[in-house]
Amino acid sequence: MVGYANHAGGGFRRAVAHQLPVAGSAGPDMSLRRAAILIVLAAAVGVAASLQFGGSDEIPESGPPIVAVSVPTSLSAQARLGQKSYDANCAACHGQNAAGQDGIAPPLVHIIYEPGHHGDESFQRAVAQGVRAHHWPFGDMAPVEGLTRRDVAEIIAYVRELQRANGIR
Ligand code: HEC
Repeated sequence: MVGYANHAGGGFRRAVAHQLPVAGSAGPDMSLRRAAILIVLAAAVGVAASLQFGGSDEIPESGPPIVAVSVPTSLSAQARLGQKSYDANCAACHGQNAAGQDGIAPPLVHIIYEPGHHGDESFQRAVAQGVRAHHWPFGDMAPVEGLTRRDVAEIIAYVRELQRANGIR
């Protein structure tokens, strides 16, 4: 039994020894290189997939301003309060300084929203009830929750002061 085991072991060792020179010179090297190539390929596929799927499915969260707004040098106390509410509730869509965001929502500093065309009550209605898209290709505006009429009056004061500073009155 022992002899047989020895024989078998020797045979195995001989077989390995026979392959070793080949494996030793090219084998480990090749498999390392193959592993490296696989890792690079996997990374490339990953990058390509994230570019393709991430890129096309992404909803833009901000766009460039639609109009250039001159910011007034000073705001009334009411408008300063309105600016805070505006920044917290409206700027995500209507943009900083109500300059609009391309692809998202219109500028409120715009001749369309001059007091004679969109009076203060249309702002109150927009916030309380939302707006069905009609002037722009950006879709509907949902009602904005959690604002009192007084909050909205402050936002209107802010927007009107921005409008006046830009020749819209
Ligand atoms: C989720 C995005 C979004 C938010 C947030 C948002 N709006 Fe709008 N708003 C829009 C879009 C889009 C329109 C354009 C609808 C159209 O095509 O006329 C609009 C239109 C308006 C109008 C025009 C209403 C009319 O009668 O035509 C006013 C006024 C307005 N928004 C005020 C506000 C105020 C004030 C806030 C914050 C309290 C606000 N919006 C928050 C997207 C938004």
